[in-house]
Amino acid sequence: MRDWRNLGVEGHFAARRPWLTYAERLAPALARLIGAGPQEVAVMNTLTVNLHLLLVSFYRPAGERTALLIERRAFPSDRYAAESQVRLTGSIPARDLIELGAAWTARTACAPTTSWPRSSATGRGSRRCCSLASST
Ligand SMILES: Cc1ncc(COP(=O)(O)O)c(C=O)c1O
Repeated sequence: MRDWRNLGVEGHFAARRPWLTYAERLAPALARLIGAGPQEVAVMNTLTVNLHLLLVSFYRPAGERTALLIERRAFPSDRYAAESQVRLTGSIPARDLIELGAAWTARTACAPTTSWPRSSATGRGSRRCCSLASST
């Protein structure tokens, strides 16, 4: 923080730990964390930006394969990213963005789900949410 305050943009080069090279410095630790090689990981961007990049690269709706699946009650920026990527491809969110899992209702609010926020839900809990949701 001191470097940020004193150096501003110069911190890219002059900070004690220059932020220009943070990606290289963090890669070995990230690789260990996920069981990858240091050359197989990239530390970059925010989660939402990375989600957009992932979807731009891999979400290629064609023919009958147009659906993009996302958990119901996903983190809001995740859902916005998914929806905007569906729109970007000319697909229709109401048809092609499929949200899986329990609906958010007062009845399901207390039941464990596998969606955001994360819980230690069991499969049984998730099925209960689905049946509650479908009965509302
Ligand atoms: C599941 C999930 N998605 C998206 C975000 C947003 O992350 P970012 O601000 O890096 O885009 C968060 C942040 O906590 C998150 O937990």
